[in-house]
Amino acid sequence: MIHEMAVTDLQEQLRKLVRDVKSRAYVPYSKRPEAVVLLLSDGAWIPGVRVESASFSLTIPPFQNAWTTAVALNRRDIVAVVFSKPPDSGTRAFLEDLELSLSAQGADLFAKQSVALPVPDAPVMPFLSERLTVSHQGVLLAREVAARALAPYSRFPVGCLLQLEDGRCIPGVNVEHPDWTRTLCAERNALGTAISYGIAPSVWQAMFLSCVSDTRGTPCGACRQLLAEHRPDLPVWMDRGLENPPVLSRVDYLLPGFFMLQ
Ligand code: THU
Repeated sequence: MIHEMAVTDLQEQLRKLVRDVKSRAYVPYSKRPEAVVLLLSDGAWIPGVRVESASFSLTIPPFQNAWTTAVALNRRDIVAVVFSKPPDSGTRAFLEDLELSLSAQGADLFAKQSVALPVPDAPVMPFLSERLTVSHQGVLLAREVAARALAPYSRFPVGCLLQLEDGRCIPGVNVEHPDWTRTLCAERNALGTAISYGIAPSVWQAMFLSCVSDTRGTPCGACRQLLAEHRPDLPVWMDRGLENPPVLSRVDYLLPGFFMLQ
């Protein structure tokens, strides 16, 4: 009984966090915000929100957003997930793969059965420890970040940084999924992290990208579209390997005439 009450209490705390995070969702089309919170083994947590795209099928669901953030931050020690809305069957199947099962307390909470859940503490800060002041260091850092990629199917690890005006860097890596359509690229991973943490596009300074095994690496069309919807003028630095200097472009040069609503 005591245990049940404690779990209920914890669930209320997590639900409150989800409600707060939900206001950061980018849902100009459906106007239906959605969010999740991932609780980690030490009580730290990671938010994830729904990020809609004018090119609708590119919409990032909240769990995918949060999970890819967790991978990029090297924090896969998830012990519970709380949803603002019960997840779809594909997401539920993936939660099972992560050994997170539906709690008796409600369809919005999934938890590891074997561990006692910690009390939620502070969110994980979504930044690398290094601040980036000289831009040529960005691709080198992006190359290091690529080691965090989860790319067992393509074996094509990608790392990126979204540098902010103050030099802090949000890491992004590609995160592949057994259902390939639920794979997310490094660039959209970093973008989704920024939005989930309420970091406005106006303070994004530049993106750095390294496809470590491809010296011609460049953002895919879907990433160009999502970036263009938020910051068409964002500079993008692309790694060209150890022998060559990186190439600098801009989102709207990479996707001229991109589709936008309004
Ligand atoms: N990928 C990225 O992460 N960024 C890009 O710019 C190109 C593609 C990833 C997605 C997938 O995991 C793998 O590379 C092959 O498409």
